Amino acid sequence: MAGLIPDNCLEDILSRVNIVEVISAYVPLKRAGRNFKACCPFHEEKTPSFVVSADRQIYHCFGCGESGNAFKFLMRYERMEFLEAVELLAKKAGVILPESKKQDPAAVNFITQLYKLNELSGLFYENNLSLPSARLAKDYLLKRGLNEETIKLFKLGFVPDKWDMLLSHLRSKNISLSLMEKAGLVVPKDNGGYYDRYRNRIIFPILDPRERVIGFGARVLDNSLPKYINSPETPVYVKGRNLYGLNLSKDSIRELDFVVIVEGYLDVIVPFQAGLKNIVASSGTAFTPEQARLIKRYTSNVVVVYDGDAAGQIASLRSLEIFIEEEMNVKIVSLSEGLDPDSFVRKNGVDALREEISNAKSLFDYKLSILKSRFNYRNIDDKTKIAQAMLEILAKIKNAVLRSEYLKKLAQDLDIKEDALFQELKKFDTGKPSANPVAPNQRKQLNISPTEKLLIKLMLEENDLITRIKDSLHPRDFLDERSTKIVSHIFKLFDEGRSVEPNLLMSHLGSDDFSQLLCESIFMPDQLSSEEKEKVADDCVKRLKHEKSRQHRQSLEQEIKIAQNSGDEDKLQSLLQEFHGLIKKGVRI
Ligand code: GTP
Ligand code: MN
Repeated sequence: MAGLIPDNCLEDILSRVNIVEVISAYVPLKRAGRNFKACCPFHEEKTPSFVVSADRQIYHCFGCGESGNAFKFLMRYERMEFLEAVELLAKKAGVILPESKKQDPAAVNFITQLYKLNELSGLFYENNLSLPSARLAKDYLLKRGLNEETIKLFKLGFVPDKWDMLLSHLRSKNISLSLMEKAGLVVPKDNGGYYDRYRNRIIFPILDPRERVIGFGARVLDNSLPKYINSPETPVYVKGRNLYGLNLSKDSIRELDFVVIVEGYLDVIVPFQAGLKNIVASSGTAFTPEQARLIKRYTSNVVVVYDGDAAGQIASLRSLEIFIEEEMNVKIVSLSEGLDPDSFVRKNGVDALREEISNAKSLFDYKLSILKSRFNYRNIDDKTKIAQAMLEILAKIKNAVLRSEYLKKLAQDLDIKEDALFQELKKFDTGKPSANPVAPNQRKQLNISPTEKLLIKLMLEENDLITRIKDSLHPRDFLDERSTKIVSHIFKLFDEGRSVEPNLLMSHLGSDDFSQLLCESIFMPDQLSSEEKEKVADDCVKRLKHEKSRQHRQSLEQEIKIAQNSGDEDKLQSLLQEFHGLIKKGVRI
């Protein structure tokens, strides 16, 4: 898993960040002796079994088995890729990562330049809002009900009515025209030269969840057209890969375990200011699988709020089926005539919007009710059309139980035999069985013997014991191959004179089983003094050796039987010899 980034770099990062700090940014931790405790963020529970060890720099949940180091926590909790987690913590720790070998350094550099340029431009627009020439823009925002705090929080900006406001600002900072063009900030003129893309507009910077400016939306101050000019696609701004407002709303989305999706920038900002903070905007495009997965980092529950006039467009509902394919729940609110979330909140208050949201209809019910209002379901042809359109959704539901529930409901609602619907449903044949039928956070028990776990624990606690154990055991003497792998890694680090710490082992070994085994070992209860530990280690070694020989003897007996049956005398003799050797060493069953 580590691969691309050298071990010493990972070690450097892990030694500089404090896992307690990292995790407490997301989970309220309470001190409990040497450790910290909380209710596990990875499974539902009422009494805390999630433990963070400051000494060991690891976390472990005794309820679901989820465990790991700081990287792993971010990967699980923020659903980051390993490299993303490393980058983030490297930044926190002030560790400079070597340039990625996989990516072309020039390309990496180019992307970094784009982010920097966007940031610089965003700041420029933001500062412009306090110019005297921005009076109208400022008034416009206040008139729309935004307060100073909100304007600042969303980093809103303004660009006056000139052709080269940004252009000359960036030039004065020695930024090349070609980079400005690639960032979509300036547009080439037909007869040479460039001009600003956005002029005399209010600027809504678009940030990704990591607070990087990736693009801009720019609105006129009146009713002229086009109302918005948005960033073109650039290497850092790919439409359909981001959601406006997510940088500010992600914590609230996670906390409330649902997200409200609206269409416009102001439809995010106004409810947010009024206290409804789990809200993002799709910016008027169809949903993509990437957006669904982006949301899934924070919640599986989506409520889409449509403007009053957009209601009932079957075509736009189709794009919501993406969420069903991603096994998420999607509900719909359609606001009354002519109102969008922004005007709805200003007219009726945010609690009225909350009320609408709590009464949201599932996509299934919503689509069915629209179809039934559109078609006459007593007419057979129409009824077939409705059924067909509904089966499209059903076919995308991967969970078989859920699918059959909906099928039953549809059959009842349309008064069609369930079996007939089922026959039709089979024709779609896209409903694959659920990818993870078992709840993802109910990790299996590893079933590794306490002896092996205790030995691993002892080696990690008292590195001095490693030599002692290494002298009498080979990693393969451990019966479970995951233990073998961990032990040989411990031996290797020890031989190389490097520190043997569980969180390093975790980032070297990667997979979930290894971190679970390490945590199960480390957190085994014991109250041993140093001398006792030595004695216990010796006992464990003996027990393991004994177990190993017992297994050896059993398999020898098997082989002897086979050799006897096949009449292979030579083989039999050598096996018997080996067997007697074991007996002499005193191995009993
Ligand atoms: P207000 O009219 O100020 O309330 O704007 P809004 O933010 O509520 O936007 P609206 O609901 O009208 O539109 C939804 C989204 O569609 C906007 O946030 C834009 O991203 C996009 N959009 C709207 N009008 C235009 C346009 O004229 N051109 C482009 N390219 N996009 C637009
Ligand atoms: Mn609006």
